[in-house]
Amino acid sequence: MENRNAELIEKIISLKQRENAIILVHNYQLGEVQDIADFVGDSLELSQKAAKTEADVIVFCGVHFMAETASILCPDKTVLLPDMHAGCPMADMITAKRLQEKKKEHPKAVVVCYVNSSAEVKAESDVCCTSANAVRIVEKLTDAEEILFVPDQYLGNYVSTKTGRKMLLWPGFCPTHIRIQPHDISRLKAEHPQAKAVVHPECRPEVIALADEVLSTGGMIRFARESEAEEIIVGTEIGIIHRLRKENPGKRFIPVSEQAVCPTMKLITLETVLWSLENMANQVRVQQRTRLRAKAAVDKMLEGG
Ligand code: 13P
Ligand code: SF4
Repeated sequence: MENRNAELIEKIISLKQRENAIILVHNYQLGEVQDIADFVGDSLELSQKAAKTEADVIVFCGVHFMAETASILCPDKTVLLPDMHAGCPMADMITAKRLQEKKKEHPKAVVVCYVNSSAEVKAESDVCCTSANAVRIVEKLTDAEEILFVPDQYLGNYVSTKTGRKMLLWPGFCPTHIRIQPHDISRLKAEHPQAKAVVHPECRPEVIALADEVLSTGGMIRFARESEAEEIIVGTEIGIIHRLRKENPGKRFIPVSEQAVCPTMKLITLETVLWSLENMANQVRVQQRTRLRAKAAVDKMLEGG
């Protein structure tokens, strides 16, 4: 297996140089994929990196909306998603048509759209946010009479409690994060009384209520580095544990649930990365009209977040 991986990695590196490609990898990806990255990060960090890169090709190891955001920001670059089935089920819980209908019911509402959404949905929105900057983005909407937050009801609810702003919440959710149960956190806290518990804001409010910190995946990486805590209970998708352990060998990371796996994130492998680079296959592009409207919402986020 190691020999096979070494062979794949060698081919990927040589093709990457030949094509002037950069490999961007989300914190939930398989460890072997994280290890070949030029950059590993959360959704916000990855879109900032995509916006600035001078590479001609971006190999996006994450899910579809992330590659799409890179393409929205860099239409002249080739953006590859090594497996086109790598979608985000939460992003699929809203469509542009259903959002248009909702907007008709609330014509004055400012639409804040979590980046976990399609380009078409972003195009119908006023501003995007990620879990790293959602609170800051909503705090800035001082003039908004009404705010509609889509599609994650739990991130929306968290932002609402942090900012004191009442918001209309779209009833979407992440099927992976709802597997994280409050009783698992309580049990782990009792077993590890010195540990700090960090959770992602996609978790349910009962889980968030038990956490010491509520952070994006990038925020968790920074917290692990900077905190004095030697034991950290981690309430998010399991893939992040690889990076946390690799960067902090002296600390102990305890996942709240081994079942918190995002199956589509795991579709990207060394094999699919190599295949897409070899064939320039699985290019993600957004139709120009939609792209420009979606870009306005993404740009607003990048300027303000
Ligand atoms: P982050 O932006 O925190 O990396 O989260 C992305 C995501 O899909 C969480 O499920
Ligand atoms: Fe989507 Fe949840 Fe997977 Fe994140 S973990 S990509 S929100 S399904």
